[in-house]
Amino acid sequence: MTAPLRSGDPITVDVALAGRAYDIVIGRGLLSGLGQRVAALRPGARVAIVTDEVVAKQHLPAARESFAHAGIATGLVVVPAGEASKSYPVFERVCEDLIGARIERGDLVVALGGGVIGDLAGFAASAVRRGVDYVQVPTTLLAQVDSSVGGKTGINSRHGKNLVGAFHQPILVVADTALLDTLPPRILRAGYAEVAKYGLIGDSEFFAWLEENCSDIFAGAPAREHAIAVSCRMKAQVVARDERETGDRALLNLGHTFGHALEAAAGFSDRLYHGEAVAIGMVLAFGFSASLGLCTQADAERVAQHLAAAGLPTRIADIQGEPPTADRLLDLIAQDKKVKRGRLTFILARGIGQSFIAPDIDAADVRQFLTGQID
Ligand code: GLY
Repeated sequence: MTAPLRSGDPITVDVALAGRAYDIVIGRGLLSGLGQRVAALRPGARVAIVTDEVVAKQHLPAARESFAHAGIATGLVVVPAGEASKSYPVFERVCEDLIGARIERGDLVVALGGGVIGDLAGFAASAVRRGVDYVQVPTTLLAQVDSSVGGKTGINSRHGKNLVGAFHQPILVVADTALLDTLPPRILRAGYAEVAKYGLIGDSEFFAWLEENCSDIFAGAPAREHAIAVSCRMKAQVVARDERETGDRALLNLGHTFGHALEAAAGFSDRLYHGEAVAIGMVLAFGFSASLGLCTQADAERVAQHLAAAGLPTRIADIQGEPPTADRLLDLIAQDKKVKRGRLTFILARGIGQSFIAPDIDAADVRQFLTGQID
């Protein structure tokens, strides 16, 4: 982990993919220079902005003004806010509107929004005219540290989340950290779970730094830019090594196996946001690791304590409404991950910053552990 930079310096993180390398630029107030960055990268390209109704009210005028200032006229596609927009009908509409806006091969799609918009607009960009380039302008913490980086795009199927999509890398990510100032606190905290995840996966020093500085990240101090940059740097390194998740990109799924099952049990509703499910999932992954003798109970408790201090739910009992049974969660895990002869793949940990892929976990051990967490 490197020391925090001074306030005001934009930070650039390189995603070093051969032939498709791109920059993630992180800093306060970057939206006003977006048009100029895009004009420099792709002179003469047309631009269509894809956004949602909520983000459009808050940030679209500034984004359009920035493009106008750079002499770029913008087409616009606005979809309803929320996970329901990651659907076939909305995907069809976005594609048709992009074609209607005369977006050609050399033009650009700009995804202005959170994870839903990034995934939807990126997937539409991968498909329209067999692929046009796109720029991610993430407006949530979760999107700035996770979903806008790495090229996973897609929509949901009736069989599950993100089951229809494509790997399609953006050509630029512009993360304006000032946009997080207006996020509802619960959404900001949910995104923080993905920041803490990077410390838990592979950087114990960063996790210790987060324990000291997390309130500054929420307050918008330079700690925020630093935390986003460290997170993006780790994600960029993992993606450059394993773009298509044939190996250690799976580490980024720490907390997600339990988390996706909890989200599904809560009906993918605002009872439990994705980042909140990941927070509980990471606590469960460490608790499960401790129960298998892989890490200490003290490490598992430290994870839970920090996430709780950050205002995140950490126990299944923290989810509003009826808790799911262990059997129901195991069914959902099996659907998500596919059980092979009673064996499952999990991301577990030998300690803070020492996560690893455990490909041969006995479903019976998971059931027993979950039963102890619920009953
Ligand atoms: N969010 C996990 C990944 O991008 O691989």
